[in-house]
Amino acid sequence: MGIQIAVLASGGGSNLQALLDAWRSRQFGEAEIVLVVSDKPGARALERGRAAGVTSIYLDPAGFSSREAYDRELAGQLSRRDISLVCLAGYLRILTPEFTRLFALRILNIHPALLPAFGGPGMFGSHVHDAVIVSGAKYSGCTVHFVDEGTDTGPIVLQSMVPVMDHDTPKTLAERVLVEEHRIYPRAVALFCENRLQVQGKRVRILEKA
Ligand code: GRF
Repeated sequence: MGIQIAVLASGGGSNLQALLDAWRSRQFGEAEIVLVVSDKPGARALERGRAAGVTSIYLDPAGFSSREAYDRELAGQLSRRDISLVCLAGYLRILTPEFTRLFALRILNIHPALLPAFGGPGMFGSHVHDAVIVSGAKYSGCTVHFVDEGTDTGPIVLQSMVPVMDHDTPKTLAERVLVEEHRIYPRAVALFCENRLQVQGKRVRILEKA
């Protein structure tokens, strides 16, 4: 059995779709996407998962007394399916330290800026692009990184850069960045599946293909 992958998503799920497409076109070798989880009942991500024939479940935060209890249920759902890679794709809940420890170096996230800039608490969605434009930065981009106990602080796997244009709004910049997200996230997952990511402290070395 290859690596079993779960994707957690709260929203539109365009990154989930990029991962599903890459998997279906055999870019992940023997690895399989076997589960999609969302904390939002109407998330388009759930529809996308189901359309791809993947078990897609809504886990209602209201049914749990704490974040810890929620993440314990989540961890149970993942362990039951032998998940060894968790991909966050627009998942808006901060994972508990207990969860990130349990899946240490087995959780990837995509962030719509060039970390370590424009990350951290509150830096999600259009807030990120807005902050980039206000800062006057000439370039933005996206980052795939491992998730550790901090917010957007884990080891960086891949990044891609896009220019910030004078006329950009958060929406136009987000669209330009998203094209790159859809390109590098599947690539990072493929590298993980090929066991080519070697983490040394904060640095991730990409090993040559065996
Ligand atoms: C993306 O911009 C991603 O970087 C961020 O949330 C957004 C999710 O978009 N983490 P989608 O749901 O994948 O379309």
